[in-house]
This record gives sequence, C-alpha cells and structure tokens, in this order.
Amino acid sequence: MITNRWVFDDEYPATILHRNTELDALSRLLSPTQHGLGAENALIHGPSGVGKTASARWLLDNLRDEYGLEWSHIECSGKTRNGVLYEAVTKHSDGGVVHRNDPHGELLRAIEAAGGPYVVVLDEGDVVPDLDVLGDFLGARGVSVIAISHSDTEWLNRVGPDLRPEFRGDNAIEFRKYHLEGLVDILEPRVEAGLVGRPITDGQLEWIADETGGVARWAIKTILASAELALERNHDAILEDDIADGFGRAKRKMREDNLRSLPVTYQRLYELLRAIGPVSGSEMKQAYRNHKDAIFEGRRREVGWRQAQNYLSKMADYDLVEKPGETNAKQYSVVDDGLEAPVEFDPRETAEP
Ligand SMILES: Nc1ncnc2c1ncn2[C@@H]1O[C@H](COP(=O)(O)OP(=O)(O)OP(=O)(O)O)[C@@H](O)[C@H]1O
Ligand SMILES: [Mg+2]
Repeated sequence: MITNRWVFDDEYPATILHRNTELDALSRLLSPTQHGLGAENALIHGPSGVGKTASARWLLDNLRDEYGLEWSHIECSGKTRNGVLYEAVTKHSDGGVVHRNDPHGELLRAIEAAGGPYVVVLDEGDVVPDLDVLGDFLGARGVSVIAISHSDTEWLNRVGPDLRPEFRGDNAIEFRKYHLEGLVDILEPRVEAGLVGRPITDGQLEWIADETGGVARWAIKTILASAELALERNHDAILEDDIADGFGRAKRKMREDNLRSLPVTYQRLYELLRAIGPVSGSEMKQAYRNHKDAIFEGRRREVGWRQAQNYLSKMADYDLVEKPGETNAKQYSVVDDGLEAPVEFDPRETAEP
C-alpha cells in the first residue's frame, strides 16, 4: 500500500499549491537579486505545519535554478551567533575556508568576502538564543535574511528597534491554516506519489482535511499513519477505523519529532514540567527559578522567567505543552505525560537548596 514513505516527509520537495499571495509577496522582496542586488529582508510567520519552510525552500530553489541565486537554509535551534554565521559561510558556494572556532570578526569577514546577493533563511528563528546575528547579516553587503517564526509579535519584540522595520509591514508575510478544498488539493499528489492502488477515497481525504483544521503537516502524516494501520490490520484499503486512529498516531509522531528538534534547554524545561505539572503560573515560575541552573548547565547564558515563558509558548505552538491563556488551559502541563524528552534530566535531583 505504501510505495514511498519519503513523500510524506517534511523535506519532500513538493510543488507548492494555494500559496500564491504569500509566494508573490516573497518574490517581490527577492526581486532585486535578479539584478545582482541584495534582497529585502522578510519575516514569514504562522502556526506550525502550514508550509512556511516548504514554501520558502520551493521559491528559493526555483530562483536558484532560474538565475543561480545563492541561498541557504539554517536550522537555528540551539545554535550560537557564531554557529549560525559559520554555517552561513560554509553553505555559500564561495564561502572560503573557516573553522567552527574562528573568532567572530573572522567569520564576519568571510561572509563579506563571499559576496552577495546571498539570502540566508533563519528557520525556527524564535529558537535562536542570540538575535544579534541579524545585525551581522544585515550589515554585510548584499546579504539578506528571511526569518521564519511562529509568532511575529514575540519575534519582533526580541529584535532591536533599529532592525525591526526590516521585518514588518510589507516585509512580514503571514501564513494561515488552509481551507478544506485547498488542503485536499495539497493531499492529492501525496496520495498519488506515495500510495499504490488508490486505497483512500475522496470523502476520506476531505475528512482528514477537515479534522486536521487546515494544518498540512498533520493531514499528510495522518494519511501515512492510516496507511500503516491498514497494513498492520491486514486491510486492502484504508478503512474508517484506520483514519480515526491515524489522527492520534500522526499527532504523537509529530510531537516526538518536534521535541527532538528543540535545544536541550527546552527539553530540560519540558522534563521539569512533565515531573511537576499540572501547575499554576506562579508555581511554574518558582520551579523554574529553583531549577534554572540545572536547565542551563553547560550553556553560556541563563534566561529569565520572561524568556522562559517564550520557551513554553514555543512548546505550546509545537503541541507539547498546555499554557494558561493560549488555549482553554488554566495551568501549565505537558500534553502527553508518556512522552519523554531525549535528555538526561531528573528534576528531583537538580533543585536548588
Ligand atoms: N501549499 C503546500 N503545498 C504542498 N505541500 C505543502 C503546502 N504547505 C505545506 N505543505 C507540506 O506540509 C508539510 C509541513 O510544511 P512545513 O514544514 O513547511 O511547515 P512549517 O509551517 O514550516 O511548520 P513549522 O512551523 O512546524 O516548522 C510539508 O510536508 C510540506 O511540504
Ligand atoms: Mg518549518
């Protein structure tokens, strides 16, 4: 039934459908690169799983094919300012030779020397601990940034006031959840390319698009999960029960992937909440203070409770955590008690006296 699992992967290079307005807006910001000039900067924002990364990649790949646009994608999660710069240099085709431990000035010079136009996509921009790297890129001639984040306001608040105008107004592009019909169109080619013998009906695809509320990733992963369940249960086609259970299986898989993608500090904070939750805001704040040193052990910087709340928001966007205010939740808790972060962290052993 499943001929190609890769088709259901986030990185599968699918043709992007139903994002014309967003892609046109991004194209306009990138248009100076056609004439050898630096692009305008952009902020792409919206909920998890609605095609922010896939759309940016698709457009930039097309421009690379068309006229050799130089661009790179950097997953910012947990990287330092120099770590991000280093990656930007090494991913440039004329990036020269740099080393991971080179001083900041050296890496900056290498970016300058590599030359523009160069578009750097800072993905999961809300997880980069140090946004000073924006100033590094924007100060280099011909280099521009496309930042991708879940919340525009939270992200802009972390950017210095001098750079903020570069990422708002026409430079901010919002991605919303899909309408049912649009999402069905997005699902069709995945079924064609990934499953054999059309084991799923049009009505079932509509059900999936509807139930997942327009979140493409969840819908795509549900098709795969339903097909897996049908196979395990020896069904020739995907049955209603397989889909009904497929939603949950897909969600669990996505939560696991999301948790794995986060920096270790987030994962420790998650483990703290998993051990003590559900708790009120004030209890969470106190627990955070007590365990802060352990959460940031081995890291250069600790963050205050305000920024820790952003970490918790990010984990709420990833459906890992319930946070008072954002959903109907009144307390902090993890969504799935059984889901463990891949870190060694036992809050019972790390509390400050
Ligand atoms: N318009 C679209 N056409 C085709 N495929 C799409 C479209 N939108 C999303 N997808 C697919 O949905 C999946 C999730 O998309 P993507 O990874 O871009 O989400 P995201 O918005 O970057 O989420 P996150 O914030 O969690 O990183 C990918 O498999 C992607 O190819
Ligand atoms: Mg993404």
